[in-house]
Amino acid sequence: MAAIVLAAGKGTRMKTRRAKVLHEVCGRPIVYYPVKRALEAGADRVVVVVGHQAGEVEASLRRHLPGAPLLFARQDRQLGTAHAVLSAKPCLRGYHGPVMILSGDTPLLTAHTLETVVAARTAPGSLAFATMTLENPEGYGRVVHAPGKGPALIVEEKDATPEERQIKEVNAGLYVSDSDFLWKTLGRVDSRNAQREFYLTDLVALAADGPGAVAARVSPVEAAGVNDQEELSLAARALTRRLTQALLDKGVSIEDPERFDIDDGVEVGADTVIEPCVRLRGATRIGSGCRIGQGAIIGSSEIEDGVEIKPYSVIDRSRIEPGCVVGPFARLRPETVLAEGSRVGNFVELKKTRLGAGSKANHLTYLGDATIGAGVNVGCGTVTCNYDGEKKHPTVIGDGAFVGSDSILVAPIRIGKGSYVAAGSTLTENVPAGALALGRARQVNKRGWAKKRASRTEKR
Ligand code: UD1
Ligand code: CA
Repeated sequence: MAAIVLAAGKGTRMKTRRAKVLHEVCGRPIVYYPVKRALEAGADRVVVVVGHQAGEVEASLRRHLPGAPLLFARQDRQLGTAHAVLSAKPCLRGYHGPVMILSGDTPLLTAHTLETVVAARTAPGSLAFATMTLENPEGYGRVVHAPGKGPALIVEEKDATPEERQIKEVNAGLYVSDSDFLWKTLGRVDSRNAQREFYLTDLVALAADGPGAVAARVSPVEAAGVNDQEELSLAARALTRRLTQALLDKGVSIEDPERFDIDDGVEVGADTVIEPCVRLRGATRIGSGCRIGQGAIIGSSEIEDGVEIKPYSVIDRSRIEPGCVVGPFARLRPETVLAEGSRVGNFVELKKTRLGAGSKANHLTYLGDATIGAGVNVGCGTVTCNYDGEKKHPTVIGDGAFVGSDSILVAPIRIGKGSYVAAGSTLTENVPAGALALGRARQVNKRGWAKKRASRTEKR
């Protein structure tokens, strides 16, 4: 089976510069969803009709669906949905099987809904399309039935008579057709209508000359299109709820599903507890038996089993091995690795840094471009000075080292295994293994100084 996804329109009602189908729902562009569902429902090739911001739409789909059998057809002027489908014809030359046609703006579609329409197309040559009943059918094409027979035609809102506008059964914009019937019939569609557009919906009336069309009823929730910002936000909420439900079903505890945000593709293991207001983004994978504290934001990271992320931590493109504890208020920037059982506490920032097994950096610290061994204690207020204004330099700290509080480590620098750095040191030279490094001014105590000062002020 082949599929065509229509995604060339600008989406004027969004009132943004970006093409409508590029707006994101749960971390993916809207158009990703119908394309993905078509593949799940058995399409072995998907032609995406692109026009507005065609290059961006193509690049975005290739990024989100690497290796998928996608073809791109250009529709430079958007002359209507029938014209859009015709633009896909060259991509399907030599193909004679059934074709699914989907709208690029339906992020809530399920593969099950698509399969319902596929199953409704009984006789070869006939056309099946999805319909739904809406309390408020505004904006949709209305489905007019021939008395005692199947659907006779679809009439667009702008062309409808006041009586037709009362009809609540509408066209969901999802079709399955035999390709030979499709190409033959599309040639007969004209643009004599209120919008001067070539309407794909005319296929229904044209099919009535032959085998007729079949209407397949689907859920209005799943076929809802996104046309403006409000519908975008509602679709995001609905999809979030669906992804949340899938986690609940798998044994993840989500304390408040209404205050939880998750991107499509995120995985979480059973027995993990998620506190309110957590946001999980991108390709994040969380193991089992973890606790994700309130307000944590985790993007494209791997959190292994039994990790505790305390509240308000921000983690991006990092890997956290089993048994680590992070936060509250920690920031892990890209390419951070926390080895098994290590701990990162409050107001600690790590970037491109590996913290070895069982090591700790518990308070007020910046570690950048650093490789830190196992069992290291990084004292409060430690700073790796990794940047000289031009280049980044590495810091290496050996196993079992003890870095006293408020140490400034000017990189490049190596702190040897088992060495000690005295608190308050500024180090610019390597420290040999097992040494004590003191990099601070010696303290001077002036006895009786306070009393002398007081008597001086009295005399004045
Ligand atoms: C369309 C249907 C309407 C249906 C509704 C369901 C027609 C004429 N009308 O209306 O019956 O109830 O969908 O959501 O088909 N597109 C192109 N090229 C074009 C025109 C549109 O690629 O020349 C794409 C758009 O980018 C969009 C999709 O086709 O993804 C649907 O177009 P849209 O303008 O949203 O159609 P509706 O007015 O919603
Ligand atoms: Ca639409």
